[in-house]
Amino acid sequence: MAPTLPLLSSPASLPRSQACSPTPATSSMAFTTPPPFASSSSTSPRLLLFTTLFLSYLTALFTSIIIYRLFFHPLRHIRSLFLAKITKLTSLYAARNGQKHLEQAALFEKYGNFVRVAPNEVFMCSVEGIRKIHVRDSGCRKLNAGVYDVIHSEGEYNLDSIMTREEHAPRRKVCHTWLAKVASFNGKPIDTSLFSLLISFDHMGKVEFSHEFRSISRKGTQDATLSMFGEIGQMGELTWLLSIAQNVKLSKTAAEFDQLTMLMADRRAAAEDNNKGDILQHFLDDMRSEKSIAFTNKNILYSDAALVLTGATDTIGAVLAHLFYQLANHPHYQDLLHVQFQKAYGKTIPDEFTNQDLSKISLLDALINETMRVDNLIASNDPRQTPPEGITVDGVHIPGGVAVRVPAHALHRSEQFYAEPAQFRPERWLDDNKEYVKNAEAFIPFLVGPNNCVGKRMTMSVLRLVMAYTVYNYTWEKAPGEDWKRIRTESKDNLILKAGPFEAVFLPR
Ligand code: HEM
Repeated sequence: MAPTLPLLSSPASLPRSQACSPTPATSSMAFTTPPPFASSSSTSPRLLLFTTLFLSYLTALFTSIIIYRLFFHPLRHIRSLFLAKITKLTSLYAARNGQKHLEQAALFEKYGNFVRVAPNEVFMCSVEGIRKIHVRDSGCRKLNAGVYDVIHSEGEYNLDSIMTREEHAPRRKVCHTWLAKVASFNGKPIDTSLFSLLISFDHMGKVEFSHEFRSISRKGTQDATLSMFGEIGQMGELTWLLSIAQNVKLSKTAAEFDQLTMLMADRRAAAEDNNKGDILQHFLDDMRSEKSIAFTNKNILYSDAALVLTGATDTIGAVLAHLFYQLANHPHYQDLLHVQFQKAYGKTIPDEFTNQDLSKISLLDALINETMRVDNLIASNDPRQTPPEGITVDGVHIPGGVAVRVPAHALHRSEQFYAEPAQFRPERWLDDNKEYVKNAEAFIPFLVGPNNCVGKRMTMSVLRLVMAYTVYNYTWEKAPGEDWKRIRTESKDNLILKAGPFEAVFLPR
């Protein structure tokens, strides 16, 4: 530790007698400490002058910035809230109650398909926008906003193939644990949103770390609140604020989540046999190889492990929660599915379902698609930055260097692309009802282009299996007192939408 210089010591660091008691005139302190009033008369005018100059400087600086952003900025032609033209701090207000996704839809309604949401940021509700921003040679590049940035490994890691290998044993095991839990409730209300998160959390424990979290069996509500994003998602995506919040560990749940994934990664790294077929095996193999491509140090291992865990748990949990809700609200789909599941049961593996057999049930995928359309769980993807020459979308020019997004929640709910967008109509995804989807390109739950979601196939397989085992064994309906609303009104947009509670009662078939 650096020695403390005596001159810089605070009174508190002095011996008590020197620090507080009146000092005799003969003591050395009498000569080294300036008399309290001697300097104040000379420093006050100087301080006043300095403050005045400083404030004038700040006033001139901010006034010129405001004038530029209002009247001369290349985005001045794009409509927006007045304050959003001046400062991105308005995004804090939009995120205040975790309902940012709804605010975005409202903005499009008010201002049209292009909205300037911050001085240098544009949201657009446009299919051409998706093409111009996300396709491989669009020229737009991903901007550091970080949801999945760390995992992206230039295709060197084919996470998709790691996660969708044909061996579905962990997925089936989680389904059986869930069924046992439902049985133990014996007709009492179950918060399906909570258990949806626990199901996906336990599933990822197995698939990612070969670890049993066992949160379904012990109803680990604590596990369900853990998320890398947590309250951080409500900080308006102000990059500077996010990094301060992360560094000072402002979000307790995010800090605990970090600890958990570090512990899991360390434990997994310490395992004698790395050949476990889980996601960490591939990360560790790379880290230990002489020609490591992505995992060049342990911190990358920690952050990628955390990102995969939250990116897979919160997402799958949210869709599952809404599926339980939608099937309770539209029970005839449970019966229709049950007929199909009876045919698929035991077809490939005795007394089990397989993803391959379930993937052929078009109504099941239509239900999943419609659930993700109506309640898309990622309100807006990471921003992209326009290339220096800018882009022109639907005739509107966006100059270079601007952050642009097509927010999926609003897009999925737009009448421009869907007939009766507010209605839950799974049939719109079946061949003979295509008129309800006016433009299928406007469906981007997993995004498109080179940065689309690598977990798509794994997600579909988990959702299909959980639905199949549940519908095959149970019917469910809303619990007495459940008002159908909380799942949306109490949802939180923490970058990934966290569903509010929905209580249902389950009856064995
Ligand atoms: C319902 C489930 C899911 C949804 C809706 C979803 C959605 C998305 C979206 C929209 C993106 C693009 C974000 C952007 O670039 O702006 C993305 C990327 C990604 N997702 Fe998912 N995701 C889901 C599940 C998963 C799962 C289970 C995993 C598995 C670990 C996963 C891993 C990733 C990774 C690694 C990326 C980054 C891909 C890249 O940048 O190349 N996701 N996801």
